[in-house]
Amino acid sequence: MDKLRITGGNRLGGEVTISGAKNAALPILCASLLTADTITLHNVPALNDIGTALKLLRRLGVQSDHSQDGIVHLDASHVDSLEAPYELVKTMRASILVLGPLLTRFGEAKVSLPGGCAIGQRPVDQHIKGLEAMGAEIKIEHGFVVARAKRLKGASIRTDMVTVTGTENLMMAAVLAEGRTTLENAAREPEIVDLAELLIKMGARIQGHGTDRVIIDGVDRLHGATHQVVADRIEAGTFLCAVGATGGEIMLRKAAPHTMGAVINKLEEAGLTIECGDDWIRAAMNRRPRATGFRTREYPGFPTDMQAQLMALDTIADGTSVIVENIFENRYMHVQELCRMGAQIDIDGHTAVVTGVPQLSGATVMATDLRASASLVIAGLAAFGETVVERIYHLDRGYERMEEKLRSVGARIERLKDAA
Ligand code: UD1
Repeated sequence: MDKLRITGGNRLGGEVTISGAKNAALPILCASLLTADTITLHNVPALNDIGTALKLLRRLGVQSDHSQDGIVHLDASHVDSLEAPYELVKTMRASILVLGPLLTRFGEAKVSLPGGCAIGQRPVDQHIKGLEAMGAEIKIEHGFVVARAKRLKGASIRTDMVTVTGTENLMMAAVLAEGRTTLENAAREPEIVDLAELLIKMGARIQGHGTDRVIIDGVDRLHGATHQVVADRIEAGTFLCAVGATGGEIMLRKAAPHTMGAVINKLEEAGLTIECGDDWIRAAMNRRPRATGFRTREYPGFPTDMQAQLMALDTIADGTSVIVENIFENRYMHVQELCRMGAQIDIDGHTAVVTGVPQLSGATVMATDLRASASLVIAGLAAFGETVVERIYHLDRGYERMEEKLRSVGARIERLKDAA
């Protein structure tokens, strides 16, 4: 397994181009199942999770190509399987996003249950409940969700909690259902808005996306469309935390600052000077970070996907930060590793108390999930001496060429290839 070797202490300076958002691209790729016409996507990041999604779609019969410049063409005119197998769903939970599109267009779908994952139990009961409300007959058989419905019917659905992929699955199911579907307590994430915008270009009738009440009037068929995937707010936020931890000045190009309010506010509190245009962010840091407590929340609150990275910044801040993780039950696995680098963090249930230390010291640490890996990289960039981050396949799932981008702004970071 590849590792990253980082020699800490360099200030960052220069420009980075932000990639398309993984979490927008994944549902959008699955939306190609909703039509027999071609879907053309721009700004699709080259990531392992995107590779997994394309592999799953190919398994279903969707033809696709992903060019080097981030363009993907998808053709779902010859879908010949309605089954998402365990080996693909277990490597990427977002595979559940084929359930809604397959069921609504073909009347049938069989998707492996994802099971637990490192950051928590993450069930899909709300996806199932919503589809049942739309008239689907759903059974759990041999570890698969087996769903059938001649044609889904519009329904009024209120999910028990705010769920991002749940909202996306139900929105995709509803666009070809008969009649009106109302999704209450819907997620408001920018990635949902991006998906809705593509669906509308395909001929879907959707209102209220980006609010907690999305109204979808089903249509008989959808057609082809071209769409540019929104910028990755988590990748951009990760680079901002990195410069916050090392000091220096960076310019992020092709970013979407309007989707990053909560993160930008917190980083300003931490002492960064941040200036934004429509699609760029300039950030400078010339001091020791100030401690910033925060609670993770659904959008527009502070994203759970940025918790680990901002915590890395808090480990070297002046003062004590109280962090509360409200979305996932087990999302503090980076804490032990940060402590091995000299961080002082106490965990009590969902709360982490971080007492800032003047400096971390490099160590060999192990990445346990995607955003935890990013936090260890940030800690390594700021630490004294050498840090080796092991198991960076997690990072490759969700960050496009992260070490190259960091090197281009002055970080001393290199990938150590696994000889095997
Ligand atoms: C998505 C993101 C992930 C992010 C998360 C929260 C993608 C591909 N992934 O994950 O990066 O961390 O949103 O912003 O977009 N829940 C249930 N039952 C359900 C669905 C969810 O209990 O049927 C619970 C989950 O266990 C979790 C909470 O609801 O505690 C929110 O999860 P959800 O928004 O569904 O996360 P994902 O969509 O899986």
